[in-house]
Amino acid sequence: MPALFPSDWLADAPYEDRDLGVLKAGKESEVYLVSRTGPTRTCLMAEKRFKPRLQRAFRNDYLYAGVWGEGSRHESRAIKKRTRFGQEHLQARWESHEWATLQGLHDAGVTVPPPVERVEHGYRMAFIGDGDRAAPRLSEVDLDLTTARRVWRELQREIQLILDAELVHGDLSAFNVLWWHERPVIIDFSQAVDAVVHPAARDLLRRDVERTAGYFRRRGVAVDLDAALALVGDSPARFAHQVLSS
Ligand SMILES: Nc1ncnc2c1ncn2[C@@H]1O[C@H](COP(=O)(O)OP(=O)(O)O)[C@@H](O)[C@H]1O
Ligand SMILES: [Mg+2]
Repeated sequence: MPALFPSDWLADAPYEDRDLGVLKAGKESEVYLVSRTGPTRTCLMAEKRFKPRLQRAFRNDYLYAGVWGEGSRHESRAIKKRTRFGQEHLQARWESHEWATLQGLHDAGVTVPPPVERVEHGYRMAFIGDGDRAAPRLSEVDLDLTTARRVWRELQREIQLILDAELVHGDLSAFNVLWWHERPVIIDFSQAVDAVVHPAARDLLRRDVERTAGYFRRRGVAVDLDAALALVGDSPARFAHQVLSS
């Protein structure tokens, strides 16, 4: 796949950034439109900012904590005891997890918005849209059958690239794919997990494939789930938990 953006899309220093307001407000995050004007051009960025999560929202995150990377014992104890320090630490890990995932996937050649930088409570990436109009989600677009077949093939290839990078998106569906210049662009990596060590990685992969396939099936594409899973590279050998339990 050719790159989504030319390598010099980002305005050079010295630049001035301007906040152009909220693009999308969600339960856990808000996405802002930010323009950057440098000496020769202006470009648009999307800035995803996470809202501080409630104590409760982290309940299931114990499962994830280990695969986000190691914290110190002091930090881990604080997380378990649900102290304020522990909460802040978990929040910070959550935020850098999504940023690191975007970077890793971009480096692996997955079609994602090019990452720009980490900011407090979030990160910046290229804005996917035309003018200041954001690209629609795939779920809002009614592809014709020929295009739908092509895009389903392309997305299977993208899932394969993600898996080759030893990651599983974890929340993939037509809601987290933008449709731009006739191409699917994958976003929203907040639920991504390590494919090798996360105990639910293989189930999440299957769910990603099933949910994404659902969109294409509704557009008339003949979807074979087992074939799709084989194509993206699903096999017990990839998943440590499968290997250990077999
Ligand atoms: N890089 C981007 N360019 C344009 N729009 C974006 C971009 N990233 C996110 N959005 C918009 O913001 C919405 C929410 O972003 P997402 O990462 O899916 O967060 P959430 O966790 O709230 O689902 C997306 O559905 C999309 O409409
Ligand atoms: Mg989303």
